[in-house]
Amino acid sequence: MIEQQLWHPVIASHEVREAPVACALLGQSLVLWRESAHDGDRVHAWADQCPHRGAQLSLGRVLIGVHGARLECPYHGWQFGHAGQCHHIPAAPDFTPPATHAATVFEARERHGLVWVRLQAPRSTLGALDAVPAFAVAEDTAWRRVVCGPYALDTSAPRLVENFLDLSHFGFVHEGWLGERCHAQVDTGQVEEGDDGLAVVNARAWQPRAYAGADEGAWIRYRYDVPHPFSAVLRKDATAGDPVSNAIALFIRPDGDTACTAWFVMATQGDTSTDLELVDFQDTVFAQDRPVVESQRPRTLPIGRLAPVTEVHGPADRVSSAYRRYLKRLDISIGTC
Ligand code: FES
Ligand SMILES: [Fe+2]
Repeated sequence: MIEQQLWHPVIASHEVREAPVACALLGQSLVLWRESAHDGDRVHAWADQCPHRGAQLSLGRVLIGVHGARLECPYHGWQFGHAGQCHHIPAAPDFTPPATHAATVFEARERHGLVWVRLQAPRSTLGALDAVPAFAVAEDTAWRRVVCGPYALDTSAPRLVENFLDLSHFGFVHEGWLGERCHAQVDTGQVEEGDDGLAVVNARAWQPRAYAGADEGAWIRYRYDVPHPFSAVLRKDATAGDPVSNAIALFIRPDGDTACTAWFVMATQGDTSTDLELVDFQDTVFAQDRPVVESQRPRTLPIGRLAPVTEVHGPADRVSSAYRRYLKRLDISIGTC
């Protein structure tokens, strides 16, 4: 399954502090813990199961000693170093644990304010998908970055990505915020479909309140990038030379076929709203999307994998159709039908 070979966000970085934290990805329970070393912090993601007698390592604690940071199991106190190897068994202190006495370690990275985990190394190169999806402006210090979420949702990750890419719901779901029903017509722009995902350029929609600090309506030009089946980035700029630039990335952890957890990472330049106001704005917009997106049936996205697609399309659905083709090309099974 290709999903096991992709990077997925699992938790916000700021939630992994001194104590180990439990979470799960694609049915694999994980313990995440942070190692503070002289050359910087590192987050580790391991199977949340001690190799000794199966206790949850996330109930243990992080020890800092002369040998560096170690994770201590809550049951018999075995100590595991950053590579997962057990170095110390308190009940048999003279025993040198062999290589088999090790926790199962997964690859973990911190990017865009989130911790990303990959459960399996790709069997052959996946091109851009070998890396955590790009969100360049979030790493540019000239832009302010705010992480919103997590938002746990009763629908599939692909349904949520499709919602994010969809301009034509703004006048109805977000009336008075991101759209108005009397300005419902949209320009879907040009869709570029490549092996590395999708790009949508020059899409336009009318927005009465395009960002947290906006006080009047404007035609907003959108660019979307879909670098990963469960991630999308939008960049919006007011066409009339407004000084505010906003970019929002949607990063989703699939929690099975009909559930997911999402984060929005906002990056802004020129917006004078506080971080809290930006989060409030995103919370409000997302609360408008939630009931509609969770109402969609099936919760999985029809891409014609299991049965012919029964949903019908309109001319404003070109991006959605391109996204479905992208999932089908990658043979994404989680959250699709
Ligand atoms: S179960 Fe972890 S040390 Fe025994
Ligand atoms: Fe929406």
